[in-house]
Amino acid sequence: MQKLTVELGDKRSYPIYIGDNLLSNQSYFVPHIHGHQVCIVTNTTIAPLYLDAIHTLLSDKYQVDVVILPDGEQYKQVDTVAQIYDCLLKNKHNRTTTLIALGGGVVGDMTGFAAATYQRGVNFIQIPTTLLAQVDSSVGGKTGVNHPLGKNMIGAFHQPQAVIIDTDVLQTLPARELSAGVAEIIKYGLISDAPFYDWLEENIAPIMSLKQSVLVEAILKSCQNKADVVSADEREGGIRAILNFGHTFGHAIEAAQGYGNWLHGEAVATGMLIALNLSSRMGWVDNNEVSRLKSLLNSSNLPVTAPTDMSDQQFLDIMAVDKKVLRGKLRLVLLKSIGDAIVTEEAPVEKIAESIQACR
Ligand code: NAD
Ligand code: GLY
Repeated sequence: MQKLTVELGDKRSYPIYIGDNLLSNQSYFVPHIHGHQVCIVTNTTIAPLYLDAIHTLLSDKYQVDVVILPDGEQYKQVDTVAQIYDCLLKNKHNRTTTLIALGGGVVGDMTGFAAATYQRGVNFIQIPTTLLAQVDSSVGGKTGVNHPLGKNMIGAFHQPQAVIIDTDVLQTLPARELSAGVAEIIKYGLISDAPFYDWLEENIAPIMSLKQSVLVEAILKSCQNKADVVSADEREGGIRAILNFGHTFGHAIEAAQGYGNWLHGEAVATGMLIALNLSSRMGWVDNNEVSRLKSLLNSSNLPVTAPTDMSDQQFLDIMAVDKKVLRGKLRLVLLKSIGDAIVTEEAPVEKIAESIQACR
């Protein structure tokens, strides 16, 4: 088992445990559950796979209640979170209760939001079950739900007590979901860790085949990179924005194609390629780096071309209403070099359009 800490001062720092067979061991849970009540939140896909194990592990020590939500991004909304509040109130959970998010980013974001708001804030633990949730969404305390007018528009910063990453659960993860998580792993190499990026090129095959030791290393390095950024800028006043590398282009793809048709990680993969292409057109990154990334994305079974039915103008129109527009200027995360990301408003619209064209 590997352990690292998200450093947020004495009271709010928390551990991330990474390894196999963690979900059968009470000792990863007990120090982080402070009252006598627990509410496990999961969904209809994950419950038959992993709920019993956690329930059995905790029910001799605590009052354990369970909420099983419908599966899907379309349910990541306020009405679904209300099911968590209903369970907590019906079963008389008090302010010392601990919520446990057992699932991917959708379950994690909703459970975290319920924890942030139930009785003005209670504790929660993340057990991420997708690779994307293990390396990204379970760490850093962004919680929330979608609104019909915008993704992740309702939310709160609320850090977990602990993140318990059991790599065994990835055995049941669909292949496309695995690749989507790998996109976020590659992102950390690109934005803040050039040696890790080199290592990923060497190790992408064992990662894709879930070789335990290599997988743990990839998750550990990813979480360490994310934890460092979150510790430096918890509420995204500045540097945390670099975690959105490739996301502005990616969100445009997701929005144009309809959410769910392209997975978030798939859209981010193509978005990163466009952003790297643009970084090269700005004269910052060597042009060879673009083909290098393309090859790594290919090895990860991730898409490397923008949707054919999406025009450059469609990209630009959607990006213009993205959260990252400030005073009418498009703010983008680009690379000065591999491992060195910046947030910039310098990229001219013609170069942005050329970069999209280049990834067709
Ligand atoms: P997801 O939660 O929808 O999970 C993907 C699918 O895999 C679902 O059908 C799920 O039921 C299934 N699944 C999960 N674990 C499984 C397992 N072990 N075996 C079999 N099936 C399994 O998707 P995701 O990619 O984990 O998360 C995406 C969400 O995360 C989005 O809503 C996004 O906005 C959010 N997100 C949040 C942050 C953050 O910082 N809070 C960061 C990135 C993404
Ligand atoms: N996924 C972006 C962030 O956590 O800030």
